[in-house]
Amino acid sequence: MSHSPALLENLAHTVGTPFWLYEADVIRQRIAAIQSITSGEGLQARFAMKACPATKILQEMAAANIWIDAVSGNEILRARHAGHPAGQSPPVICFTSDVFRDNALDVVLEHGVLPNIGSPGMIRDLAAAGYRGKISLRINPGFGHGHVNSCDTGGPSSKHGIWYQDLPSVQAAAAAAGLQIAMLHAHIGSGPQFDELLANLNRLVAEFAALAPSLPHLEAVSLGGGIPHDYRNPAAFLPLEKLGALFATARQTLSDAASRPLRLEIEPGRYYVAPACTLVTRVSDVKQTQTNPKGPGATFAMVDAGFVDLVRPAMYGSYHGIEVVGRAPAEPTEPIVVAGPLCESGDVFTRDDAELLQPRALPRPLPGDLLTLRDAGAYGYAMSSNYNSIGRAPQIWLEPDGQLTQISRRETLADILKAETDLPL
Ligand SMILES: Cc1ncc(COP(=O)(O)O)c(C=O)c1O
Repeated sequence: MSHSPALLENLAHTVGTPFWLYEADVIRQRIAAIQSITSGEGLQARFAMKACPATKILQEMAAANIWIDAVSGNEILRARHAGHPAGQSPPVICFTSDVFRDNALDVVLEHGVLPNIGSPGMIRDLAAAGYRGKISLRINPGFGHGHVNSCDTGGPSSKHGIWYQDLPSVQAAAAAAGLQIAMLHAHIGSGPQFDELLANLNRLVAEFAALAPSLPHLEAVSLGGGIPHDYRNPAAFLPLEKLGALFATARQTLSDAASRPLRLEIEPGRYYVAPACTLVTRVSDVKQTQTNPKGPGATFAMVDAGFVDLVRPAMYGSYHGIEVVGRAPAEPTEPIVVAGPLCESGDVFTRDDAELLQPRALPRPLPGDLLTLRDAGAYGYAMSSNYNSIGRAPQIWLEPDGQLTQISRRETLADILKAETDLPL
């Protein structure tokens, strides 16, 4: 949905630009859509909180009984802070990683969180820390497909998970360390096509079903996340009911294979939040380069947001819809490159993973216009950084009745300098 120009101008006046604007009703619709395909017996949805870990969003998930997939000690603590319970009865928070970094192992132990390990050596780490409980294994099944090639989630070039042929030795190591394998997990990504996701998930279920009889402590299987969001056509219909049917059948197949009822989990990230947030930025200038022997000239709309805010285009060549606020869709357009303030030529929002410039057909903006970058809720603020010491932009929460809350303020230099020390060692 397009926001009213008056609302965006008012907010820009109040909090400055750029800023992130979340729509509560869109998140709630997406939560309801996931609930509609996981409401059956033995099915449980999580939220891969890495996609958008704001407390407000974690609280929405808690209220909807959506469990959490966390990837760091601090993500676990953020989930706890937002009200998600500790412990493994049931394992509301699950920790999925290939490495225990910083406080991760301590937090997993202290909060009784189920560790979902993606590297065989993590058994050694858990055993050395005195852990003797349930574990989950993240498997690399040898196939899968991320949303782009650099997000390979399954196959020989993926760093994620325990290679499926190593499972027997990992089972033996777990048994020797007194650890019980309570869950099998794989996150194989969505691939560009929904049908490919369905085919991959069916294949995964068959492989996990073949393993189930050899895992006497198995309680659950997780099929990971990867429900796609169509960034080019956000309103496109997604046949979620096909996934729902797949989950119900998979849960039955897996339970039959294990000869006891198993829980079937999923843990989408982007699907819940991608369409629910807009990054709003101000055009500071519009300038030209001219065609010469090196290449064609371009028109650049220079904006105050950059890849410190939304890194997906620079990192993966991802597409985000862009609108010039207040311009009628019927206005004539021209090819415009939208670029940010950072000291990097790749600080361009209109690009793909091969081409630095992919001008977008937009009405020619004027300095002072607001621009919106749409569908920025997943891996948007979550991946923003302090490169160039700019400080993260504020996040605003919009309720359907129009109530607005600033859920994080703009970071200041003091925030950036806070961790600096002069500590002799
Ligand atoms: C283990 C795991 N689960 C779930 C997700 C969520 O994926 P998506 O946002 O595509 O649903 C990710 C994404 O990186 C992941 O690594």
